[in-house]
Amino acid sequence: MTVHIGAEPGQIAETVLMPGDPLRAEWAANTFLDDPVCVNRVRGMLGFTGTWKGNRVTIHGSGMGMPSLSIYANELIRDYGAKTLIRIGSCGAMQEHVAVRDVIVAMTASSLSTPSRGIFRELNFAPCADYGLLNAAVEAAKGTGAPCHVGGIYSSDVFYDERPDLTEMMTRHGILGVEMEAAELYNLAARHGVRALAVLTVSDHLLTKEALPSEDRQSTFGDMVQIALEAAFS
Ligand code: HPA
Repeated sequence: MTVHIGAEPGQIAETVLMPGDPLRAEWAANTFLDDPVCVNRVRGMLGFTGTWKGNRVTIHGSGMGMPSLSIYANELIRDYGAKTLIRIGSCGAMQEHVAVRDVIVAMTASSLSTPSRGIFRELNFAPCADYGLLNAAVEAAKGTGAPCHVGGIYSSDVFYDERPDLTEMMTRHGILGVEMEAAELYNLAARHGVRALAVLTVSDHLLTKEALPSEDRQSTFGDMVQIALEAAFS
């Protein structure tokens, strides 16, 4: 057990999928894994371990925002030996050619700040995905039929953004979408020598203001779980 995870030693797999929402972790575990066992309930942040095609997998919520993800990812890596961590989540699109329901595989994650800022100080570290995972996810995405974009994303500390000039700046620099967790996941993976990737579906569009209807959220989420599992074990 750690401060925030109640799992016994050995109950967490080396491969961990991390949706923001703990109830999505439960749905994904029950839908995709054989013999899922709930291994964490502390603070309602559900985690499940089971197998997919014979491979052990944990699906564990990250919560929203980088400080929350940092707590769980740190403990999963440092205390439970997680070696591959894949965020599966939603994002807001920032380019005209990216549409609601499309998949974004995040090659890099820009930010104004992350929980690692105090460690990096004056260094502008460039958080980036594991190339092997990224490549495998792009291949896996072809099977889902969803258009897949690969490139930079932005990890924000706020959902309710008051800086339209920042959005405009990032759109101009080719940033595909905005979410709130990937940059710190990539920082932690680099620090601890493990593999990380963020696979995202576009739930809303910052330029067109379109949003994914709630009935479509489950199916696009399922596509991401499938892509993440295939990428992890390719
Ligand atoms: N901003 C930040 N995070 C998000 C968004 C957004 O517009 N959409 C989905 N996650």
